[in-house]
Amino acid sequence: MYDTKRVESIVGQDDIKISARKVQVYYGDKHAIKDVDVDILDKTVTAFIGPSGCGKSTFLRCINRMNDTIPIARIEGQIKLDGEDIYDKRVDPVQLRARVGMVFQKPNPFPKSIYDNVAYGARIHGLARNKAELDEIIEKSLRGAALWNEVKDRLNEPGTGLSGGQQQRLCIARAVATSPEVLLMDEPCSALDPIATGQVEELIDQLRQEFSVVIVTHSMQQAARVSQKTAFFHLGNLVEYGDTDDIFTKPRDTRTEAYISGRIG
Ligand SMILES: Nc1ncnc2c1ncn2[C@@H]1O[C@H](COP(=O)(O)OP(=O)(O)O)[C@@H](O)[C@H]1O
Ligand SMILES: [Mg+2]
Repeated sequence: MYDTKRVESIVGQDDIKISARKVQVYYGDKHAIKDVDVDILDKTVTAFIGPSGCGKSTFLRCINRMNDTIPIARIEGQIKLDGEDIYDKRVDPVQLRARVGMVFQKPNPFPKSIYDNVAYGARIHGLARNKAELDEIIEKSLRGAALWNEVKDRLNEPGTGLSGGQQQRLCIARAVATSPEVLLMDEPCSALDPIATGQVEELIDQLRQEFSVVIVTHSMQQAARVSQKTAFFHLGNLVEYGDTDDIFTKPRDTRTEAYISGRIG
């Protein structure tokens, strides 16, 4: 099992963005996440890998309280963001989700213009005092999502009219517009072709200059390409966590070894 104390002594507390301790998730009677401890670092891409149904999406959703929206889901344990308990009664989940943004498997732009898609969160959270400031946020976010040049002349056209890869980058721009500290991505490339996948992967590498990125992927090649840290989940347990290179070249647990060599999953 992965030793969080050892990691803290190596990286120092300052680099830890999210720390999870003894996290359990139940869906009714089903125990979907079992006693997960992990520290997720700032300005780092962390990949969650493991066989289908092992709990990757469930654990990801704990980090911005998206499981709150699933009535039968129950969470125990502790998750801290910059040392603050995100499940504290005083934390507003809507505010939390501006700090911890999320991008889903299928691009899900709103049936609104490209501009309004990106402006959505900035408007809810009152991040701009006037149109000029909002315009600035839109441009910066679209540039940040490597989409500006493709859409700058058609900001008033519907977001749903873009290609799949462009729609996913629009969703990334929408998440980036609230200046999040963490971006959660649940299989963000699974609906994209290889070219669009490459563009999103390149973007992920740029995003980590500014914040912490956590990506769920069923592709070990993708995990190896984009992440510096990897967590391997199996049957609701976090089996192994470490440097991505180490996980893929010298896994310590036989379950990790079996998964990366294609024997399970
Ligand atoms: N909304 C839900 N209601 C009931 N069970 C769920 C729900 N979401 C996931 N599960 C169950 O929890 C387990 C983990 O699922 P999930 O987190 O989606 O895995 P992964 O993302 O690794 O494929 C699975 O057994 C799945 O069937
Ligand atoms: Mg999933």
